[in-house]
Amino acid sequence: RTRVFSGVKPTGNLTLGNYLGALRRWAEVDQHRADALFCVVDLHALTVDHDPARVRRLSRQAATLLLAAGLDPQLCTVFVQSHVDEHARLSYLLECVATDGEMRRMIQYKDKAPRERARGGSVRLSLLTYPVLMAADILAYGTNEVPVGEDQTQHVELSRDLAVRFNQRYGHTFVVPRATPPAVAARVMNLQDPVSKMGKSDDSGPGIVYLLDEPEVVRKKVMRAVTDSGQDVVYDREGRPGVANLLEILAACEGGDPEELSRGYDSYGALKKDTAEAVVEVLRPLQERHRELCADPSYVDGVLRDGARRAREMARPRVDAAYRAIGLLPA
Ligand code: TYM
Repeated sequence: RTRVFSGVKPTGNLTLGNYLGALRRWAEVDQHRADALFCVVDLHALTVDHDPARVRRLSRQAATLLLAAGLDPQLCTVFVQSHVDEHARLSYLLECVATDGEMRRMIQYKDKAPRERARGGSVRLSLLTYPVLMAADILAYGTNEVPVGEDQTQHVELSRDLAVRFNQRYGHTFVVPRATPPAVAARVMNLQDPVSKMGKSDDSGPGIVYLLDEPEVVRKKVMRAVTDSGQDVVYDREGRPGVANLLEILAACEGGDPEELSRGYDSYGALKKDTAEAVVEVLRPLQERHRELCADPSYVDGVLRDGARRAREMARPRVDAAYRAIGLLPA
């Protein structure tokens, strides 16, 4: 069976981008057709200035939202990264295969490092090595497919490179994974700034739809989305990024094609109204399940405990094999 692995980082409240680019497919497609693991990657949340209590709270919330989004622990494995030591163990071995030049070329590092410097003056070493830990997440499980949004495809490419390099040098140990971005909404844009990604760690609230936003808040944010000059509704990601973003969101929510949908509209107002309602309808059941799950925290704890146990069993043999292959003396 195809092995699928993906993760979400608890650095902020989850957004519509996380849902349409990743979570939704995990629940609707991946968990049914593959042997799938979904992980709250809390170690990754420590790569930037962080508040320990907030990371802990966001980790639990992210896990709860994964279940609210429809992940079923009977069908897939849901767990927290730091509960399974194999991720950190393998990450170190992969640091011995990756190069510093490779790390410095990563787009996300080049974006984030200057921002961190501007904010606090220094950049954590773990921000540089972030993609190696992510490669360890993926490779530890013999993953074939990594369902992620477009912003993560470069990281998955690096995982491929590291797998191939390790296998060539030390003998076949890892499966070479590939990214599987969604056909639409692979990069949901900020509603106030449609040339930037809708990111959960950004501060610009009005441009970001959070999964737990009340319907009224969702409507307001979508109705106030920045659109482009011009009147007619056409799907053009370059020339009309604001309108294209709304069409993609609508298409992803309703299951359609953005280009085709554009022909049904002759005003921005009507497009915004339908998009707002489509988002509200998509979030409604998720928010309901989230409320129920919050009332039963011991259920979520149980799922995570069980998930960590299963994940550990799956990762252990391959990480042990990598230890032997690279030349470490068995304990
Ligand atoms: P993270 O937490 O930033 O995002 C989780 C998932 O949501 C997708 N995503 C988006 N998709 C479309 N439009 C957007 N605006 C948008 N914003 C986020 C992301 O592509 C991702 O699929 N490094 C990863 C977490 C990670 C991981 C892994 C993923 C760590 N190890 C191993 C896969 C496999 C991250 O920061 O995702």
